This record gives sequence, C-alpha cells and structure tokens, in this order.
Amino acid sequence: MPDLSINFAGIKSPNPFWLASAPPTNSGYQVMKAFDAGWGGAVWKTLGVPVVNVSSRYGGVNYRDKRLIGFNNIELISDRPLADNLREIEEVKKHFPHHAVIASLMVQSREEWHQIVRDVTNAGADGIELNFGCPHGMCERGMGSAVGQEPDVLRTIVEWVMEVAQIPVIVKLTPNISDITEPARAARLGGADAISLINTIQSIVGVDLDLFAPYPIVDGKGTNGGYCGPAVKPIALNMVKNCAQDPYVQLPISGIGGIENWRDAVEHILLGASSVQVCTAAMHFGFGIIREMTAGLEQYMAEKGFHTIYDMVGKALPNVKHWEELNLKYKVTANIHEDKCIGCQLCYTACEDGAHQAIALREGTRVPEIIEENCVGCNLCSLVCPVENCITMERTDDGTEQLTWKERTLADTIPTTFNDERAGGLHHWVPEPTAALGKEKHKTLPGKARQITNVAPAPHDTVRQP
Ligand SMILES: Cc1cc2nc3c(=O)[nH]c(=O)nc-3n(C[C@H](O)[C@H](O)[C@H](O)COP(=O)(O)O)c2cc1C
Ligand code: SF4
Ligand code: SF4
Repeated sequence: MPDLSINFAGIKSPNPFWLASAPPTNSGYQVMKAFDAGWGGAVWKTLGVPVVNVSSRYGGVNYRDKRLIGFNNIELISDRPLADNLREIEEVKKHFPHHAVIASLMVQSREEWHQIVRDVTNAGADGIELNFGCPHGMCERGMGSAVGQEPDVLRTIVEWVMEVAQIPVIVKLTPNISDITEPARAARLGGADAISLINTIQSIVGVDLDLFAPYPIVDGKGTNGGYCGPAVKPIALNMVKNCAQDPYVQLPISGIGGIENWRDAVEHILLGASSVQVCTAAMHFGFGIIREMTAGLEQYMAEKGFHTIYDMVGKALPNVKHWEELNLKYKVTANIHEDKCIGCQLCYTACEDGAHQAIALREGTRVPEIIEENCVGCNLCSLVCPVENCITMERTDDGTEQLTWKERTLADTIPTTFNDERAGGLHHWVPEPTAALGKEKHKTLPGKARQITNVAPAPHDTVRQP
C-alpha cells in the first residue's frame, strides 16, 4: 500500500490534500468536518483585522452543460474576530493532532505581523501561510497581491515574519505577475520555508447586458474579482513548473489551482508540488470529493510503483523543455478510425477553415479522409472530434533523426531573411486564394445530410513536399 503521508517543509499531514484558504476553511466546524471526511490538512481562511464583505460575492463561468468551469469572487479575508478563529484552531488541533492546520495571515505593519504570527503559533497551528495573493479589495489597501507583485516588499515582510516564526512559513504567490519566479525567489531570499501557488487571477467573468455591470453585481455595480476553478489549472501548472525548475527557488511547493480530482493533483505533483490545495471543487461538490481523490491517488501510485509521494514529485520536470529543445524531425499525422466515426465532419470543418486543408470529404460516405501529405500534425482535428480515439495522431517519421531549433541555430541553418528557402512552410501545399470562392455557400451544418461532390483541398498529385 503506498504511503500518502507527507512532511511538507516540516508540516506533517496524513495525505497531500489540503483545503485552500477560502470559505471551506472559515470555521472550526468546517475544518473538523473536512478532516473527518479524509482531508489531510487545511489552510485556514486568511486571518487579519476582520473585514466587511459585500453581497453578492461570486460569479461563475458555465460552459454548455458544465457549471462553474471558472469561478470568480470579490470576497475579502475572514470577517470573524481573530479570537474566535484562534479558539477554534486550538480545538481542531486537540481533535486532530496529526492533521495539518495552517494559518493563513494578512496584516500590514511589522508589529501586526509579529503579533499575529505569535498568536496562531500559540493556538497550535502547524504552519503559517502568508497571503500575498488576494487580487481585489486587500491590494488597494497595500496588502495581498500588492505585496506579491513587489518582490522587494514581499521579501521584507517575509523577513519580518521569520524574525519571530517558530513554525514553518509558506509564502502564497499571486499569478497576477509576468514572471512568477521573481516573487518566489524573493520568498526564498526572505527565508521562507516553502511557497504555495496560485492564488486567484484578476478577472471579470461577465457583463450583464441589461444592467451594463460586471458580475457579481452589488447594487448595480461590480468590480474585478479573483478567478479560480478548473479553468485556471493550465496557468497554475505552468507556474508551478516555472518555480520548480528555477535553480534559485528550490523550495517545497504547495500546488493550487483547478484541482478537482486525483488526476489534477497528480499533474501538480508531477510538475513539482509536494502538497496540493483545493478550493473551488470543495465549494462546488463538498468535502466528500476527498474519497475519490485519495483512492485514485493510491491506486495510481500502486500501479506506477511509487511507494511515497516523494517518488513522484517533479517526475515530469525533465520532460518539460524550452521550445528550442524540441525535436523538429518528429512527425505525426492524423488517422481516422472509420469504425468509430459518426460522420459529424467537425474535423473537416476545423482543418479546412482553421488548419491546413488536409481533410477531404468523399462522395457516398460521411467519413472524411486525411490527405496525409498535407497534414502537418497539428492535432486540431483530434481535439475537435467528439468520439474518443476516433482520430489518433500516428508517428510517421522513422524515429532515427533528432534536430532541434537550438542545434539548427548553432549550425546556422535557420531562416534569417523574409523569403528564406529554409522556412518551414515554404513548400507546403496551400490552395490558390480564388479556390475559396463559393465554397462556404455549399456548406451545411455538421450532422445534416448534404450532397457532396468532391471538395477535397487538393488532388493528391498536386501536393508538393519540401
Ligand atoms: C470565495 C473565495 C475566497 C478565497 N479566499 C481566500 C483567502 O481568504 N485567502 C487566500 O489565500 N486565498 C483565498 N482564495 C483563493 C484560494 O485559496 C485558491 O488559491 C484559489 O481559489 C485557487 O484554487 P481553486 O482553483 O482550487 O479554487 C479564495 C478563493 C475563493 C473562491
Ligand atoms: S470529427 Fe471524428 S467523428 Fe466527426 S467526422 Fe471527423 S473523424 Fe468522424
Ligand atoms: S492534424 Fe491538423 S493538419 Fe492534420 S488533418 Fe488534423 S487538423 Fe488537419
């Protein structure tokens, strides 16, 4: 049985799944319920001088039949008195001494930082997370992302905290910055024990077309909020990877952003995270999702032969390269599996209008055909095809050659002039512009019957290869 327990910069937890600082960790009641359900840790809703919140506070992005693929909030830090939170932290720790309780903090002056760090330590918190990420409300008051965007200020505050900290300190970073490694490095220089990322992304999720106001609407007005949920996972993964690969960061990373199931968590871990935090998914589906998460992670680890979480941390990093290091000789071509095809022809439309005119329609069948010579292997058709594994990308080079842009640059064989003969697409077939005229008029919606004469992009014999 794989061991899911972690020791994250000195914070011990029975599994790597923590609730992120947010409404699900607003009270001792919720944190106890979550631990009881199986969560390994919780980062308490950010503590500081209590705030006053607005109503409403959340906006959502729904996509077709999926609700909340993106989630946006204009909520601030905890609005509950510090004393209440401290008492409840103490109580939770009494019941769950082996679970991780991390106090998220956000205050302003050095004295306030010293005081609140001592307070949560005395309450029994296992660690501290400094919230330098909130992108609304608090940043206008010089806190949250206003700190996360200024590496020097961030470093100074981390130093203040480290003057008194006796438990591990995690710095939570804002993604609202062009280079995430700058604040991450500053956290390291300030003496932090770990980093966590990402906090929410500054956003407007939509505008009411009648009220002319952005969501969520507060008495006819709105403001930018913080975006999170499944939609932000790709951004979070990239930033986790950037920090994990940076030789000047080298701190344990708690991965946050779009984690909804065990697979999302594993992706964060493979890119360098050694704990993961979840907010939106817990708000959407409740604490019960932890059962699938731990069971799935355990099974994955057993299948892969990983005994501990640390066997898999950063396992994908050696394969994350710069573009210039990718093999230009590697070639894939789309392949349609006729037995799976439902004839929707979405692939044809996508390739015809959005890619390289490498799919042809044939008379007498709705199953399109790949014109192999024209296919650049961009993947678009396989991404739009609604049938799993109906279009697969197959390797077509013989696997013997390896040449990167970096190597070509060194060998001085890269295109350097506007009409350079060494350009990648120079001899690739494209239709004559006038061949487009009238074509669109004959199209019908995908799925509807239509009479197709041959509208293939080009007869095969006109295709020229480089
Ligand atoms: C309603 C709401 C309130 C949040 N409040 C806090 C907070 O008080 N402190 C904090 O560090 N992050 C806060 N966050 C950010 C989350 O902790 C987390 O970083 C972010 O939601 C990304 O994770 P997710 O994609 O799993 O939601 C909040 C997020 C939401 C949705
Ligand atoms: S998108 Fe897929 S299912 Fe639809 S026609 Fe193309 S191959 Fe067939
Ligand atoms: S991989 Fe790209 S170029 Fe090739 S058939 Fe599909 S969409 Fe067209």
